[in-house]
Amino acid sequence: MHLPFCESLCTYCACNTRITRNHTVERPYILSLLKEWRHYCDIFGTRPLIRELHLGGGTPTFFTPDNLRWLIQTLLEDADIHPDRHFSFEGHPNNTTIEHLQVLHELGFDRVSFGVQDLDLRVQQAIHRVQPLENVKEAIGNARRIGYKSVGIDLIYGLPHQTPFSVSDTMDQVLALRPDRVAFYSYAHVPWLKPGQRGYENTDLPSPFLKRHFYEIGKHKLCNNGYSDIGMDHFALPSDELFKAHVAGNLHRNFMGYTTTSTELLIGLGTSAISDSGYAYAQNEKTVEHYHQAIAQHGSAVTKGHILAGKDALIRKSILQLSCRGELDLRLLQQLETPEISLALHQMEEEGLLYRTDQGITITHTGHPFIRNICSVFDPYYQAQDRTEATFSKAI
Ligand SMILES: C[S@@+](CC[C@H](N)C(=O)[O-])C[C@H]1O[C@@H](n2cnc3c(N)ncnc32)[C@H](O)[C@@H]1O
Ligand code: SF4
Repeated sequence: MHLPFCESLCTYCACNTRITRNHTVERPYILSLLKEWRHYCDIFGTRPLIRELHLGGGTPTFFTPDNLRWLIQTLLEDADIHPDRHFSFEGHPNNTTIEHLQVLHELGFDRVSFGVQDLDLRVQQAIHRVQPLENVKEAIGNARRIGYKSVGIDLIYGLPHQTPFSVSDTMDQVLALRPDRVAFYSYAHVPWLKPGQRGYENTDLPSPFLKRHFYEIGKHKLCNNGYSDIGMDHFALPSDELFKAHVAGNLHRNFMGYTTTSTELLIGLGTSAISDSGYAYAQNEKTVEHYHQAIAQHGSAVTKGHILAGKDALIRKSILQLSCRGELDLRLLQQLETPEISLALHQMEEEGLLYRTDQGITITHTGHPFIRNICSVFDPYYQAQDRTEATFSKAI
């Protein structure tokens, strides 16, 4: 469920957001979300069984605890809840109150991830997100006392003014808080989509070489302190469910990142939300106004989609195998391999990123940070893009 509102814009942000200090937007937005959910329930015919629920943003904690209670309680009235359910949300440490944490926990939420990004003041000023360590400590402490089973922290490398020293220092402070999970994201620089990123100069950003070095600094510290590299950008302690799923080979990935369960159907509610039926994707209207309008008129805000045709399902499966297990089985490889794919794989093998066996492909330790690049070899849509135009952010 996408809750797009934030009180102020963090200039690096690549998410779909609406910046406002006007909290009267909360009620109408919840009414549209509930109407959209009602529309889906009518289509299902039978009561849905909810296994996972994730509140993302924007800033879910922009909403008052009472409004979040109203939203979730009403939504769950129309559904059964799986006994092994996992409900999670993204919290901004600057505005996640003890009441937010308490109310959501009472409603069944047991996982929270806090956006921290960087703890260096100069970096925080450049990204317009001044956030003292004390706020982070307090939010994490409250979540733990209330009983959240998994408390995560999001960090980004490649932000303006980061230095090897500042990245190392941020990581030390984060490690002292002992989060169960750390997402260590590569900064996605897409100023043609997010003009806020023009708030700093290109010269304030690290070179790709330095950015890569930041990643190595962070990864080294995490792995030396008991965290395991789960896959693209994600690290977890052995006690965390994500780590256990990784070891058991049950890791799955959807639009929100890695998950511990693979659900048959993912329904995205709210602006820009993406749904996945297993054989098709559908995305909602991206602006709040268009979303409200579409829901008022049709009950649905789906504006575009993609039906998995031809080899799409195989491509998706291969990318999931590579990103969740670091492997690709031979049968799948044989079904997809073209001379271009063979050449790209050969080059990656020469560079030590992967090796081929009778069973298929295995990504090496060196290749792990390049999983995105390896997956992209199998993605004809990515390969076919016009390289003269900026479309995607760089993997590094
Ligand atoms: C919806 S946001 C976070 C929730 C909450 N609004 C907050 O800021 O704490 C989810 C995460 O996406 C990541 N993110 C946002 N913009 C990014 C960018 N340009 N590059 C890489 N990661 C980004 C951040 O780590 C952020 O915590
Ligand atoms: S990083 Fe979070 S709080 Fe900042 S603008 Fe993006 S979604 Fe909003």
